[in-house]
Amino acid sequence: MSRSTDGSAVSTREPRSATDQRHWLAGRVAVVTGAGRGIGAATAEAVAAAGGLVVLAARDRAAVAAVAARIRQAGGHATPAPADVSKADDVSRLFAVAAEIGPVAALVCAAAVLTAAPFAETTPELWDETLRINLTGTFLCCRAAFPAMHRAGEGRIVTIGSLSGIYATEKFTGLAAYNVSKYGVIGLTEAIAVEGKPHGISAICVSPGAVDTEMLRRANPDLRPGLTPADVASLITALLDGPLAPASGANIPLFSNVGPQ
Ligand SMILES: NC(=O)c1ccc[n+]([C@@H]2O[C@H](COP(=O)([O-])OP(=O)(O)OC[C@H]3O[C@@H](n4cnc5c(N)ncnc54)[C@H](OP(=O)(O)O)[C@@H]3O)[C@@H](O)[C@H]2O)c1
Repeated sequence: MSRSTDGSAVSTREPRSATDQRHWLAGRVAVVTGAGRGIGAATAEAVAAAGGLVVLAARDRAAVAAVAARIRQAGGHATPAPADVSKADDVSRLFAVAAEIGPVAALVCAAAVLTAAPFAETTPELWDETLRINLTGTFLCCRAAFPAMHRAGEGRIVTIGSLSGIYATEKFTGLAAYNVSKYGVIGLTEAIAVEGKPHGISAICVSPGAVDTEMLRRANPDLRPGLTPADVASLITALLDGPLAPASGANIPLFSNVGPQ
């Protein structure tokens, strides 16, 4: 037994059972950021359902504790580790908690913010905060995961971009900082894939369109989401659970799951 950053007892890594062996994730430690709600929370639940030992990060302690409790009630392994991914010290603490459970084998970077503002009214503070959380936060978490993955000779990373971070997709107004942060995440993922390849570390970016989450409801209440958090979570889990290496460095755009009505 070890301790999470909030002091609560957490379960330690357990031997893999024969039935677990059909899932690569089973018995492996997976850090999921942005796990307090939305896509991150759904991904934490899906990874735990595949047998992953999930470490959940977001700033809201109560939110990560509630998601972790839900996972445990469903029979999964979950450790809440509240952290602000834009802060290097928080990220170090998060990965120290994860290391107590076992070597980090998987990482999903879902933490992000979206604060809309017309370009001319985008303040340096808004710009900095968006880039610090969405891009630097992803960088800090990937960098923190790298040494354990390098030592193990394996590691799988999924970052989350957005359709709005892809050249020539339709853009919405007011999203300059957010869009640029997502272009950055896509580029970062490629760089990690290149440097990870000789060490068995794969990285892939998924770039959803509109997903039914608090972020979308706040940013664009009129936009009809074509994806649920569970849709995105099950794809991420399948990617982590599958032979990711040949696709490493790719960015997968996710369009609507809803057919014409
Ligand atoms: N929803 C969409 O339509 C859509 C489309 C394309 C891409 N995406 C991307 O999908 C990912 C998940 O978004 P979502 O829609 O699920 O958003 P959401 O519902 O707003 O959830 C975002 C999560 O990130 C956490 N977070 C925010 N800032 C953080 C920080 N500094 N440190 C740690 N955690 C932080 C939030 O918790 P705290 O505030 O408590 O920290 C929350 O748990 C994001 O990367 C987003 O850009 C979403």
